[in-house]
Order: sequence, then C-alpha cells, then structure tokens
Amino acid sequence: MTQDGAFKDIITERGEDGVLLIRLNRPKALNALRTRLLEEIAEALLAAGDDGDVGCVVITGDDRAFAAGADIGEMQDKTPVDVVRDPRAAHWATIRTFRKPLVAAINGFCLGGGNELAMHCDILIAGRTASFGQPEINLGIIPGAGGTQRLTAMVGKSKAMRMILSGERITAEEACAAGLVAEVCEPELTLERAMTLARVIASKAPLAVELAKEAVLAASDGLVKDGLALERKAFALLFATEDRREGVRAFLEKRPPVFTGA
Ligand code: CAA
Repeated sequence: MTQDGAFKDIITERGEDGVLLIRLNRPKALNALRTRLLEEIAEALLAAGDDGDVGCVVITGDDRAFAAGADIGEMQDKTPVDVVRDPRAAHWATIRTFRKPLVAAINGFCLGGGNELAMHCDILIAGRTASFGQPEINLGIIPGAGGTQRLTAMVGKSKAMRMILSGERITAEEACAAGLVAEVCEPELTLERAMTLARVIASKAPLAVELAKEAVLAASDGLVKDGLALERKAFALLFATEDRREGVRAFLEKRPPVFTGA
C-alpha cells in the first residue's frame, strides 16, 4: 500500500490490486466537505484517471460519518455571486466526469453534500447503522450539488420529497429498499466489502468497465441534466435570503432556527 502525503483533508492509499482508496479526513467536523477537501478529491481523481494501474476507486469516511455535508462555517458569508463563481462547481464536475468506477463505503452520517458525493459514486455500500439525508432545508437552503435530481432519480419522487422538504434522515435499510444503496452490511465490514467489490471490478477489462459506466450513467444521469441547472440557480438565489443567514447562524450557535420568509 502506498500513501500520498501531499493531501491534508483526504488520505489516499493505493495497493497492488488496482484499487485507489480515498479516506475523507476531517473527523472532528464529521468530514464536512470544505472546499479544500473537495479540491483534494478532484486532484486525486484526476491523477487516478491518468494512472493505468488504477481500475476502481473507493471513497470512504470513518465510523461516525461518511460526510455530514458542505462545511456550514464556510457557507456563512457567501453571497449569491460567490455561489455562482464558486470553484466547488469545477471540483464537482471533475468527480461527475471521472470515467472509472467509484464505490462509496458508508458508515455513520451521510448528509447533504455528503449524500450528494455518495450519489456521484456508482455503487453505494452502507453499514447497517449509516443514515442518509438532505437536511439543507433546516438551513433555509436546498441541495446544491445535484441532490434534488439524483435523489429523485434514485428513490422516486415521494421519498425524495419527504427527505428534501422535511430534512428527515432514512436508515441504511430504507436506503437499500429505496434503491439508493446497493448493499447493507455490518458496519465493521463496510470498507472490506467495498474493497472486495472494487478489486473484482478492477480485474475486468478496463475499457469495457469505463464504457459500461458511461452507458449506465446515460440511463440515470441523462434524466437529470435540465434539473441540475435549475437546482444550481435556485441554490444561488437562496443565498440572498435572511432565512439562509438565520439557518446557518442557528446551526453554528447550536439552536433551532426561526424562519420568517424574508
Ligand atoms: N459543517 C461544518 N461542521 C459540521 C458539519 C457541517 N456540515 N456537521 C457537523 N459539523 C461539526 C459540528 O459543528 C461539531 O463541531 P464542534 O465539535 O466544533 O461543535 C462537530 O462537527 C460534531 O457535530 P455535532 O456536535 O453536531 O454532532 P451530533 O452527533 O450532535 O450531530 C449531525 C451530528 C446530526 C450530523 C449534526 O452535526 C448536523 O446536523 N450537521 C449538519 C448536517 C447538515 O446540515 N448538512 C448539510 C450541509 S449544507 C450542504 O451540504 C449543501 C450542499 O452541499 C450544496
């Protein structure tokens, strides 16, 4: 196993088995996806894309969280213009257009941008105690990295509405029954199972694997293209509201928000 020491917010490990493992590494913030973390994932994927020895990538967090969403502290002072010009969009695009398979190994909280990162992966493996949600509504905003579109495509309108409008979380079993997750296992086996699956995938003919991924994504992502642009504009617009300021402030002050519609 070789490790790349150049990263801070992620740890990468590459074995002889064609699998690159990316561990999100902000445990104290439940692996919240600050911009640096997203940038490092994108950098690692760009390198993996050029590396003929990598056939599959596994992304994981730790026992407590896969990722609890975008970094709410970082969102505090953002304006709609900042959102429109946000470098995060380019990092998400790198993840979205990565041609090799991505497997997510998920334990603990998988929320907001964390769930959106998981949904950018091609196969989701979850520990029994994992939970999934899009809690942005509690902050006076909506998902901004494709959550409204991909979640709806994966679990259907009614379940997506319930999660996105209420902010309520679902269990790993519910996520599996709904089609968000491919497999549920005991939490201590989540990473092992994801790595085993990734090794199997990495042993297949690389071009067949890439083209299979592209073809399956044409079926799922093809449906969401128009919606992604709409979501992005709505997400930026909401950064102009007082309710968004209140939602973020309330989270940071550890109190319930008081929304006024302003
Ligand atoms: N951003 C920044 N910090 C976060 C965070 C986040 N998304 N989620 C958790 N943290 C921090 C907490 O502030 C806390 O830090 P301190 O110890 O310094 O106080 C630490 O991680 C542990 O969190 P909690 O004490 O809150 O742990 P808990 O077990 O009581 O609750 C939780 C866990 C339910 C996941 C709760 O932390 C939570 O609700 N987090 C926010 C989830 C959220 O709203 N995500 C969506 C973000 S917006 C988004 O994702 C939009 C987008 O991508 C486009």
